[in-house]
Amino acid sequence: MPEKLELRWPGKDDGFALVRDERTGDPKKIPHDEVQPRLLIEQARYGDADAKNMLIRGENLFALKSLLAAGFAGKIKLIYIDPPFNTGQTFEHYDDGLENSLWLTMMRDRVALLRDLLAEDGSIYVHLDWRSGHYGRCILDDLFGATNFRNEVIWQKIRVVKAQSRGFGNVHDMIFTYSAGENPIFYQQYRPHDENYEAKFDKVDPETGQRYQLVSMIQKGQGPPRMFGKRTLSPPPGMHWIWTQERIDEAMLNGEIEFTSGGKGTPRKRQYYDPDKGQPVHDLWTDIFPVNSQAKESVNFDTQKPEALLDRVIQASSNEGDWVLDCFAGSGTTGAVAQKLGRKWIMVELGEQAQTFALPRLNKLVAGEGQKVLSGNGGFRYYVLGEPLVITDNKLGVPVINPKYDNGLLVQAVLLQEGFTQTGDSELHGRNGSAFAHVTEEYVTPTYLKRLTSRLSEGEALVIYCLKYAPGLQSPKNVKVKKIPRDLKVKYATVHGKE
Ligand SMILES: C[S@@+](CC[C@H](N)C(=O)[O-])C[C@H]1O[C@@H](n2cnc3c(N)ncnc32)[C@H](O)[C@@H]1O
Repeated sequence: MPEKLELRWPGKDDGFALVRDERTGDPKKIPHDEVQPRLLIEQARYGDADAKNMLIRGENLFALKSLLAAGFAGKIKLIYIDPPFNTGQTFEHYDDGLENSLWLTMMRDRVALLRDLLAEDGSIYVHLDWRSGHYGRCILDDLFGATNFRNEVIWQKIRVVKAQSRGFGNVHDMIFTYSAGENPIFYQQYRPHDENYEAKFDKVDPETGQRYQLVSMIQKGQGPPRMFGKRTLSPPPGMHWIWTQERIDEAMLNGEIEFTSGGKGTPRKRQYYDPDKGQPVHDLWTDIFPVNSQAKESVNFDTQKPEALLDRVIQASSNEGDWVLDCFAGSGTTGAVAQKLGRKWIMVELGEQAQTFALPRLNKLVAGEGQKVLSGNGGFRYYVLGEPLVITDNKLGVPVINPKYDNGLLVQAVLLQEGFTQTGDSELHGRNGSAFAHVTEEYVTPTYLKRLTSRLSEGEALVIYCLKYAPGLQSPKNVKVKKIPRDLKVKYATVHGKE
């Protein structure tokens, strides 16, 4: 393998993941093997009962695993995340003081799962600041590939700063954008023209009366000479003509090109006055103001981001009806704007702000105000994460099925964890391609096995997950009998709080 540049940190490859305790919010390390998908347990529906939008309360590492297991791999068109920046301070609603190497492990594991969720034409926007931006970019380069880097957007979040004694005041955050593939969805955004815009258009087309200005036709780089009518002109050294020969020919015919020095000098192109469109947004965003506590959109959440910021991100990189995901949802800004713009959305938030900030904010929206509702999108479902399926028995110290998973829940959890989707059939509970799964708490005997096997057609296979089976049980080649939890892919897990 050719050597590649990589960022290293203590604990990078120690096999542990960092999760937050869902009750206390405290960080803790758990072995990677224990990062299991969890059941998404629906608590309530808000607005349109058919809407599929999701607000999930829980640790995002587990929730992202669950989303992958639930069939969202490659389905998400846009991800915006605004993770804790590792600021070393404790905010009113959450703690943001992870040590650098833990922060890196935390981000690496989540970004890897996010990448798997992203569609081929999807994009990820990662909002960071000076404390962790440089680390974040290395992780993104590593997981998305440096060639899929699209932008480092600088967002000016503060207008006025006091003089500092040792350096310049920090007024910006950065948002790194990466695409999953070569052709991401992208729509150029425009901002209002500045005050001097109109004055620059000092010429008038005598035929149409349209105002215009003449602008340069060269850019830095290398390029061939081009024909401008009968004249062949080379670009100045180190520059190239911005248009192809075909486009130049067309522009010469319709009068879009004029020459300096009475027709003998350099070609310049007409740029017409267009007050409606505005100027193209570049990577320096100085026109979006932070949310102050008096603003109408303010929900008084410490790190609430402006809706205008999310509006720009969502409009640039998704279409109506697309899935948008934010797994560090905070007060739910991404979901709120996605809802207003007619996108489908999934929000994940660990803290109680899922319930106290995001939920009421989104509920107010689906109840009516200011949204663009596509059919079936005027509501959402609120979920919590189920407990891990496999836990350690406190007395015996061995892995056992969590007693909370009985009957129907056990079936759902095993299917989710083993990669099957539910069929609704009372015997062949799950399906993955031509393989079926059956989950039972009953004792599996030869008669039991025969009955299930008789349901299979040629070329189909079956996995039976059970707690116990008859000693020496023989099964046909296309049927496997697995004991749970022993034979599950994820072998071992702890209940949160008990390690
Ligand atoms: C900077 S805030 C996001 C603010 C949000 N953009 C808004 O406009 O309200 C980061 C959020 O990530 C949440 N968070 C941190 N670690 C998490 C984790 N492991 N799983 C889920 N949420 C987490 C925090 O509780 C916090 O609410």
